[in-house]
Amino acid sequence: MGRKIFETVRLNNLTMKNRLIRSATWEGLSDFDGSISDEAYEIYSEVAHGGVGTVIVGFTDISDDDHYIHGAMRLSRDELIPQYRKLTDIIHAEGCAVISQLAMGAYYRKLPNGLVKQVEPDQMTQDEIRNVIEMFIQSAKRAGKAGCDGVQIHAAHFFFLSRFISPRVNHRTDIYGGDTVRRSRILKEILSGIKSKCPGLHISVKINSSDFTLGGLEEDESLEICRLLAENGIDSIEVSGNGTSVEGIRPHVNEAYFLDFAARLAESVNVSVILVGGLRSIQTMQEILDNTKIELLSLSRPLLREPDLPEKFRKGESSESKCISCNACYGSHAHRCVFVDFR
Ligand SMILES: Cc1cc2nc3c(=O)[nH]c(=O)nc-3n(C[C@H](O)[C@H](O)[C@H](O)COP(=O)(O)O)c2cc1C
Ligand code: SF4
Repeated sequence: MGRKIFETVRLNNLTMKNRLIRSATWEGLSDFDGSISDEAYEIYSEVAHGGVGTVIVGFTDISDDDHYIHGAMRLSRDELIPQYRKLTDIIHAEGCAVISQLAMGAYYRKLPNGLVKQVEPDQMTQDEIRNVIEMFIQSAKRAGKAGCDGVQIHAAHFFFLSRFISPRVNHRTDIYGGDTVRRSRILKEILSGIKSKCPGLHISVKINSSDFTLGGLEEDESLEICRLLAENGIDSIEVSGNGTSVEGIRPHVNEAYFLDFAARLAESVNVSVILVGGLRSIQTMQEILDNTKIELLSLSRPLLREPDLPEKFRKGESSESKCISCNACYGSHAHRCVFVDFR
């Protein structure tokens, strides 16, 4: 029998009530210290109540010193665990699995005068790189203590790890640069560290299919990195790319803009592939399950517009998202959909 959107899925260390995932979506609501606001709890409660199977909590910073994006949650210190636990409890109460997206925008070196300075991969010492790897591992441990079922290593969208593995940015000639294997070594070391320190956590990665930039990561190399991660025990791979939230998506016209790469990847690795980007109709999603080996379907903007879209799909009350992919939500308070009055 064919695979269905609304059926229970069991992957390594993860049970999901359906194949729909809320892809990581940063709200920008946290204080400078990374604490979680009441409004963020409300947003996660709404989205979990709306019927999605798994929630990937948005950009959760692994470092106290990272100031690349504003208002990110953090798991950079033990004191932040109870607040994150409250968040995972809210999501679990609705029967959803919870994955924390662990991320770093950029590396900031501490200067002797107490200030910090952004440093790109080429300028980093090996000790600094090992420090970043350790921060990812420690944050994953905290995510586990906070009740997360899994973590997602954010290696997409030209944030720190995405830049580190990109030939456009990383020109190192040591063990952390020079070719595909060495540039992606940082991911391999984060992965093996989390596997050994956090047994039982599902480990996912979000990665660019392509950087879509001159001299950047291209599809064949991205495939090779994904294969290396699969060989080293990654549990799932979410396929994205720079230019992540493409505008003007219309149901049945131009949906699922990373589909070709994700389908190719799913053919070549023995790991669950998650497709994100421009999924707008239940028909397209079912066709993807029917015609490819992609296992999971991830949505961001449609759930900003209609947090209860999965439930509407399930009940047959809707077959298409109302999101028009205008990207106005990037500029709104809490990244709410500008067409909805949530008050
Ligand atoms: C307001 C907003 C915030 C986002 N924050 C994140 C994030 O924290 N981490 C991430 O990997 N992607 C983030 N994304 C990208 C989405 O997860 C997703 O990859 C992209 O929007 C394409 O999917 P969609 O067409 O379903 O929106 C964000 C997107 C939006 C619109
Ligand atoms: S503002 Fe609303 S309609 Fe526009 S992209 Fe965001 S969620 Fe979709």
